[in-house]
Amino acid sequence: MNEKKEVGEIAADYVKDGMVVGLGTGSTVFYTITKLAQLVQQGLSIKGIPTSLQTEKLARELGIPLVSFKEIDHIDLTIDGADEVNTDLHLIKGGGGALLREKIIAKAADTFIVVADSRKMVDILGSFPLPVEVIPFGVEKTGKYIEALGGKPILRQKKGSPYLTDNGNYILDCSFFEILQPGDLEKDLNLIPGVVDNGLFVGMADVVITLNKQKEIDINLRK
Ligand code: 5RP
Repeated sequence: MNEKKEVGEIAADYVKDGMVVGLGTGSTVFYTITKLAQLVQQGLSIKGIPTSLQTEKLARELGIPLVSFKEIDHIDLTIDGADEVNTDLHLIKGGGGALLREKIIAKAADTFIVVADSRKMVDILGSFPLPVEVIPFGVEKTGKYIEALGGKPILRQKKGSPYLTDNGNYILDCSFFEILQPGDLEKDLNLIPGVVDNGLFVGMADVVITLNKQKEIDINLRK
């Protein structure tokens, strides 16, 4: 069974005619976007707003009409993946490096739906190193401040050079091992000069679509 395809396609059922839809980034929401493109071909009228250049390219290739923030005043629904989801539906995101635009587009949406295969579901966040987007200037010092908060930052690399986000920034992948107070850590990290944002999405997901132990679809609503 392809869990990513299963949960990704189900999320497309939430999209209705006329909606502005935030389009997430990654291999799970890929299936949502592909399904939406099929529905658009069959007459569904939506406008997408992409969370990354990668998703923008995919959506254009598949024929989903796109808009930018200049042309809209709100987003009806955003659908995106996650790297970890805890029992309170707090998330770690940014494994694909798109966390900043993802957070802007999730926050702007009336409803934020997360699609996650069952391996992403955890009791305590933190096994997945937390991506933190930082400006290149002073990255060494920024990393030291993150260490003082208990993290072990590693500068993300691509082909032997620092990985650059769509915003021209670096990513520090920070092992915290167990994040017991994600709301506090999210705020503390963002107070460090040089940090642009981090991959903790606390209290943002309205719905998480995953699979339970019996491999049945499991729809979790924020309490
Ligand atoms: C990209 C993300 C993705 O949503 C996250 O990495 C999950 O990706 P995938 O669906 O490929 O497992 O946050 O920045």
